[in-house]
Amino acid sequence: MKKIRIAIIGTGNISNAHINAYKKLDDAKVTAACDINEKRVMAFCEKYSIPVYYTNHKDMISKGNIDAVSICTWNNSHSRIAIDCLEAGINVLCEKPLALNSKQASAMKEAAEKSSAFLMVGFVRRFDKKTIIMKDFLNSNRLGELYYAKTGVIRRCGNPTGWFADKSKSGGGPLIDLGVHMIDLCRYLMGKPKVVSVYGATFDKLGPRADVKMLNRYRPLDTGGICDVEDFASAMIRFDNGCVLSIEVSFTLHTANEKLYCEIFGTKAGAEIAPGFKIAGTMDGYNVDITPVYSEDTNQFYSMFERQIEHFVDCVSTGAECISPIEDGVELMKILDAIYESARIGKEIVFD
Ligand SMILES: NC(=O)c1ccc[n+]([C@@H]2O[C@H](COP(=O)([O-])OP(=O)(O)OC[C@H]3O[C@@H](n4cnc5c(N)ncnc54)[C@H](O)[C@@H]3O)[C@@H](O)[C@H]2O)c1
Repeated sequence: MKKIRIAIIGTGNISNAHINAYKKLDDAKVTAACDINEKRVMAFCEKYSIPVYYTNHKDMISKGNIDAVSICTWNNSHSRIAIDCLEAGINVLCEKPLALNSKQASAMKEAAEKSSAFLMVGFVRRFDKKTIIMKDFLNSNRLGELYYAKTGVIRRCGNPTGWFADKSKSGGGPLIDLGVHMIDLCRYLMGKPKVVSVYGATFDKLGPRADVKMLNRYRPLDTGGICDVEDFASAMIRFDNGCVLSIEVSFTLHTANEKLYCEIFGTKAGAEIAPGFKIAGTMDGYNVDITPVYSEDTNQFYSMFERQIEHFVDCVSTGAECISPIEDGVELMKILDAIYESARIGKEIVFD
């Protein structure tokens, strides 16, 4: 069997989830890795027995022996690297967010349209078992007509700092980092409607709160640097199928209630997708809560990546239709841009 030759670009934290998933597949082989940090990429290659490393993605592309890449770099380089790969006919799995903004995302889409290769957006939550099950229920119209969803990720003291807090590298704070996942999850379940209007608010009142003691914090590999991103964002998003989505996200907030939640409501029933998993419906005149029964993954986070990467490799090798195509990444960037712009001007953004 001809193995798909894969390169990992960006060998920081999340690249471990990618390579572990590729290693489980018979029809893919990671043959190269690339990172601007030479020490880091060398250690990565040694750890995972990868034969070749690069410190510049263009040098890697010019060798012409890669079929597909995972882009796991800071957000500010996604667009440039993806376009270079697509122009060379290399298939791309790009981590979320697709880019810093919708302008960059559209340029990536243009490159994909001209290329023999394709780009898949790393909306990994689409590959969570709960999402797959809920999508099946929605396809059978179990919730009826959907009209509202509410979602959020609230951290009390969870600014990762480093490049995540530097807008020039990340594009923004919790909205572009955490909100992108949750907005996509709801939009995906709602049938991928187009945005018609957005009202957003962002605040940067607290900063990273580095002075708070006795806390374990998620840290990128390169720490330090500035913090010029929002620490809280909230928005109402209206879609062309009549659905409305409410979202709130924070890196830092004075709250005793940290949470990650997602609920979606229809005319026949509602569903909680996180933190629990149940359908709130009616049976024989009684309200009932229905809990789907399924085998949970031992490592839910890594398993989502395994299913995502299995699908990516399947798309590369068989031409299967991509579950998470570039258009969805562009639409998401359009929504995020509009939330930031609405927050900036203090008014609703309405699309034609
Ligand atoms: N899907 C998820 O749940 C999830 C989780 C975490 C991070 N991410 C995304 O993955 C990406 C990486 O995040 P991370 O937490 O691994 O960050 P990280 O800082 O741990 O690693 C990023 C790596 O990219 C390298 N890099 C930066 N620019 C580069 C370039 N131009 N060429 C080659 N290498 C470059 C850095 O040197 C670093 O080693 C981000 O886009 C982030 O949003 C996704």
